[in-house]
Amino acid sequence: MEFTAVLAGCGSMSKGWLTALAEHPLLKGRVSVVGLVDLDQATADARAAEFDLANAMTGTDLEAVLAATKPDLLFDVVVPSARAGVVASGLKHGCHVLSEKPMAASLEAGRAMVAAAAAAGRVHAVVQNRRFISGVRRIRRLIESGALGEITALHCDFFIGAHFGGFREEMDNVLLLDMAIHTLDAARFMAGVAPKAVYCLETNPRGSWYSQGAAANAIFEFEDGVVFNYRGSWCAEGANTSWESAWRIIGTKGTLIWDGGDSFDAKVAVDGTGLLRDAVAIEVPAPADIEQTHGHASVIAEFLDAIKSGRSPETAGNDNIKSLAMVFAAIESARTRQRVTIAV
Ligand SMILES: NC(=O)c1ccc[n+]([C@@H]2O[C@H](COP(=O)([O-])OP(=O)(O)OC[C@H]3O[C@@H](n4cnc5c(N)ncnc54)[C@H](O)[C@@H]3O)[C@@H](O)[C@H]2O)c1
Repeated sequence: MEFTAVLAGCGSMSKGWLTALAEHPLLKGRVSVVGLVDLDQATADARAAEFDLANAMTGTDLEAVLAATKPDLLFDVVVPSARAGVVASGLKHGCHVLSEKPMAASLEAGRAMVAAAAAAGRVHAVVQNRRFISGVRRIRRLIESGALGEITALHCDFFIGAHFGGFREEMDNVLLLDMAIHTLDAARFMAGVAPKAVYCLETNPRGSWYSQGAAANAIFEFEDGVVFNYRGSWCAEGANTSWESAWRIIGTKGTLIWDGGDSFDAKVAVDGTGLLRDAVAIEVPAPADIEQTHGHASVIAEFLDAIKSGRSPETAGNDNIKSLAMVFAAIESARTRQRVTIAV
């Protein structure tokens, strides 16, 4: 095994991590899980039994497990409100830390993590698995190729009636902080230009089963005059979009429509006259690297590979904080009903 790791937070998402580590070809045989921590001892024990980790230490006290096992890595899969303390503990014990999204429960906490990772000389990165999928990689390549011309706008619709129960239904700004972080990060990656400012209206629609912020409409201004228009709701019943959202991306030559699944429709206008120009279909290229399209497995592998080669991973905290800043600027805009500048 190349690395030892402790995983903190043995709830639903941890199952996906442990399955990827045990089975995915990108990860199998690379990480030995030497500790499992949860506030609830039985939850940690159940995960250890489920994944045949009889030799892993289990416990409720992260500091004690880190001190006893001295792992190379800390995998942070706790709820967002506990993240800052968990990341600080991992860095203090000399671990490289990979955290679930969202990176932090506030921008200040995110900044503190970036500073702490730099001071410790350790990698801290964030799981933005929804940029490590085929569709997003293909769109990035299409945009980079210039086939649509200069990109001028990205529009996306996220409408899913999701009944999770658990922490999300009690959480403030639930759509923006828990879900839109993925979509905003994907938009930033696909567009390839930096976000500058946002206007946002956040609501909790009548009939919502969340306590706050289940829907949002946000208009982002990016560099180079690019506009990103996000419309989302987590309590829209009857016609769910993909978890990746439904997209319309417009360039100076043409438009790409992506349903967030397997359907891509890219067309560019042909020379001509008249009110409406004809359009011809263009190819959406394959992903540059298929290994970057496996969600969690790809993010974890990118983290491991970056540590081995001494480079910064794609979703390092000092880059991912730019996506977090989009979320918190949108929240601030909704609160103040003003345009808010995005600053890291
Ligand atoms: N990337 C994705 O696609 C994706 C999908 C689902 C969830 N998530 C993220 O994963 C994280 C966990 O979500 P979940 O659905 O597993 O939640 P969950 O509530 O099912 O599990 C979280 C677990 O963390 C434990 N915990 C809380 N504080 C802790 C602490 N200080 N030390 C140790 N354990 C602690 C809880 O006891 C619980 O068992 C969240 O940040 C969530 O946003 C990401």
